[in-house]
Amino acid sequence: MIVDRLGRRFSNLRVSLTAACNYACTYCVPDGKRLLKAKHELSAANMLKGVQLLQQATGVDKLRITGGEPLVTPKFDQFLHGVMAMNLSDVSLTTNGQLLLAKKDIIRESGMKRMNISLDTLNPLKFQQIARGGDLDTVLKGIDAMLELGLKLKINMVPLRTSNLSEVVPMLKYCLERGIELRYIELMRMGHLRNNNSYQSDFVSMEVLLDEIGQEFEFSRTEAPWDSTAARFQIPGQGTFGIIANESEPFCRTCTRLRLSSSGHLYGCLSNASRHYIGDILDMPNHLALPKLQGILVTALGDKNLSFQGEATVMKFIGG
Ligand code: 5AD
Repeated sequence: MIVDRLGRRFSNLRVSLTAACNYACTYCVPDGKRLLKAKHELSAANMLKGVQLLQQATGVDKLRITGGEPLVTPKFDQFLHGVMAMNLSDVSLTTNGQLLLAKKDIIRESGMKRMNISLDTLNPLKFQQIARGGDLDTVLKGIDAMLELGLKLKINMVPLRTSNLSEVVPMLKYCLERGIELRYIELMRMGHLRNNNSYQSDFVSMEVLLDEIGQEFEFSRTEAPWDSTAARFQIPGQGTFGIIANESEPFCRTCTRLRLSSSGHLYGCLSNASRHYIGDILDMPNHLALPKLQGILVTALGDKNLSFQGEATVMKFIGG
């Protein structure tokens, strides 16, 4: 196993199935244009081969399917089927929820147990302003469908001071009523936000969030797993919520994440532009591919920073 001097290793793989997305969220896409079809992406078969090799080379045992929006690509069905047949301890999905109704049967048949749905507001107008694609009602129906299947759900919300701060409590109530864990994500300085004034004006810290929530709910902080990215809080008798506090409480020192982009690049760190192409390795027989991959993984683990400085890399290419 490949381990660094802080004891960090890659156990958590996030695979971005495609950079395409049916949204163009303000914090992800600078020009508001949706990328409906992405070019030069790996096939589902090659991505599956990549997962298998990474499992063998570095002991990856948890996998998250992301994007872009993973449900927009026809590769999703084959990829999901393939990873569910591997011996992974956990397979989950991050989706914007727009296509969940259409994928309900495939998700049920796959046996997937949990997923994260990105939703920043319950207000249809604000939804349009932030997502710039899709529609709120379809997402809410998708959420109901997943609850019906018995999946464990988390909702990701990115609070933005100039737009959905007033949704912090309504979103929490919506989630508590449905047994969903809400996770607030502090805005990250990724892509166009890196050197942009809107980052300063939109950033909402954990402290401000807890203050907002504290006006409606009593809560206490609870233990979270050592490699968790979220600070977790309990509202007695009602449920839990989390805050992914990239800025207020960075978790870089315990980061176990490795990312595979749809273009075939490995990223060892979200706050580092270094990436390593493995598309060519995926065509080699295993006995040649494995040692090559191991060399790359040592370099990729060395890419991990000690703090999150933000990066020019756009999230849709590497999947949050
Ligand atoms: N800051 C914080 N969260 C972001 N996401 C995408 N871009 C950013 C950003 N700049 C979130 C999405 C999704 C998750 C995968 O990452 O809203 O829920």
